[in-house]
Order: sequence, then structure tokens, then C-alpha cells
Amino acid sequence: ERLSIIGVAIDLGAGTPGVSLGPAAIRYAGVTDRLESIGYEVKDEGDIVAIKPENPKTEGTNLKNLDEVVRVNTELCDKVSKTMEEGRFPLVLGGDHSIAIGTISGVLRHKKNLGVIWFDAHGDINTDETSPSGNIHGMPVAVSLGLGHEKLTSIGGIENKLDAKNIVFIGSRDLDAGERKVLKEFGITVFTMHEIDRLGMPEVIDRAIKIASEGTDGIHVSFDLDGMDPIYAPGTGTRVPGGLTYRESHLALEMIALTEKVVSAEFVEVNPIIDNMNQTAKSAVALIGSLMGEWLI
Ligand code: ARG
Ligand code: MN
Ligand code: MN
Ligand code: MN
Repeated sequence: ERLSIIGVAIDLGAGTPGVSLGPAAIRYAGVTDRLESIGYEVKDEGDIVAIKPENPKTEGTNLKNLDEVVRVNTELCDKVSKTMEEGRFPLVLGGDHSIAIGTISGVLRHKKNLGVIWFDAHGDINTDETSPSGNIHGMPVAVSLGLGHEKLTSIGGIENKLDAKNIVFIGSRDLDAGERKVLKEFGITVFTMHEIDRLGMPEVIDRAIKIASEGTDGIHVSFDLDGMDPIYAPGTGTRVPGGLTYRESHLALEMIALTEKVVSAEFVEVNPIIDNMNQTAKSAVALIGSLMGEWLI
């Protein structure tokens, strides 16, 4: 199978700087070799690079670095779409989680009914109105549903949006009040750490796969490394204790791989600046191996 690595060197959507070096860290951790050794024809497309604006403010909004986040995501949307046009699997490396806006809108050009499995300690379903921080990495799910600032929701075309019924969260443990309201209102399924503890990952993933598959023509996997427990992913700006174990995370991605329905993936929020010996990027590479089937004999 043919695969393209698309790096997105951006941290302008996050509160802590450094995730812009995530793609480099993941490359140093050996992502290309790892994929080639299991038979992928890998093309590294290099990075889309964000430039820090002199003034992070945009008139009339609390959103930080809005214009540059929009520019980068628009470029990413086109890149992902072009990659899929060429029949290649887009593997997007972040970068802060705002890049899910560009990835998902690009994939939606090819897969009109897309399921999404979202691994994260957070909901990332704030809007400019509910966000406690103004950081756009806390908003990509809202934007992909068509909610929030018009400059964000128009990336890739306003008609290109997700259906709430095909989105599922795994590993949530830090949801804001405004996020809980939207999640309820839209009836989105959330498997918090509580459900994972009670049901176990195999049951949770079976249910998640059903939700992301029903009536869809593919599944996008969005993996925020802070979904994992900080023991395995210390290099991330918004660490929350009590996360997914190493094996829970891998089992989840292995089971998703078995469906053969995955059409795109992104691994985000790797911050080598606050990491220990590039451990978080190494975890990301191992997770990518599991999602891409390296464990299959
Ligand atoms: N909910 C918080 C916010 O909106 C934190 C979001 C963290 N998101 C992430 N992709 N790490 O600011
Ligand atoms: Mn639809
Ligand atoms: Mn997160
Ligand atoms: Mn996130």
C-alpha cells in the first residue's frame, strides 16, 4: 500500500509552544523505516510550516492566531485531498490538534460520510463562545461539525462536515462545561476513562467501531497523544493523569486496523521540548505501527 507522511509544524493553536517540532521528533523516532519494514511505499511530503504572526489577535474574536491557523489548515486540506486523489493513505503528523480541521475537511472531499474515532483526554469541541482559553486546538471537533467561527468552519467548504452520530470519543477525562453541553445536545458518544475501566477496551472499541462505521464510507483516526497516560506520553502540553495504558492504546488501534476501514489518520500534540528522551514520539511511532498492522503475522 502507498502512504504519504504529511507533517504540520504548528503550535499556534496550543497554549504551550513546542508541538511545531512534533513532526521532526516523530521522524527521528523512525516512522518511515517502521512503515517501510512492513511493506508500505512511503512518500514523505515534508512539512506545512506555520509562521508566528507579529500580532496573534484578530479583530473581534478571542481566538489566538486565527488567521495563520486558517491559512495552514487550508493548505493541509488541499494536501490531504490531493494525496487521496493519488490513491495514497494520508498520515498526518502534528502539530497541535487544530490541524484536525484541515485533515478532516480534506478527507471529506473524498469520503462524504466519514466516521471519526477521537482519542484524547479532551473533547476539543469548544467554540469561540465556550472556549476557556481561546486556543484553537480545543475546537477542531466543533469546527468539523460546522460550529464556531466562520473563518474556521469555512475551511474546505461549509458543506463538507461530519455527522455527530458517527463521531466517538475515547479516553476523555478533562471536558469543559460548555463541551459537555454540546456533546449532550448532539448526542455524541463519549467513552470516558470511566467506561474504559468498567467495560474494558475490547468492548469499548467494538462499540466505537460500530458508531464510526454505521452508514459511513471510511473511518478517520485522530490520536492526540495526551489520550495516553502521561507515563507513556510525557511530552505533551496538556497532560492529564489517569489515561490510556500502553497496551490499551495499542489494542484499540490494532482492533481498528482489523476493520480495514481506516482511510486516514493523524497523530498530534507531540512536544519534544517538554519530553524525556523523545519518548512521546517513540510512543507515537509504535502506535502508528499498530494502526497500520505491523503486529499481523
Ligand atoms: N479544553 C481546553 C481548551 O479548550 C484544553 C484543550 C486541549 N486540547 C488539545 N488538543 N490538547 O483550551
Ligand atoms: Mn453525512
Ligand atoms: Mn488533548
Ligand atoms: Mn486534542
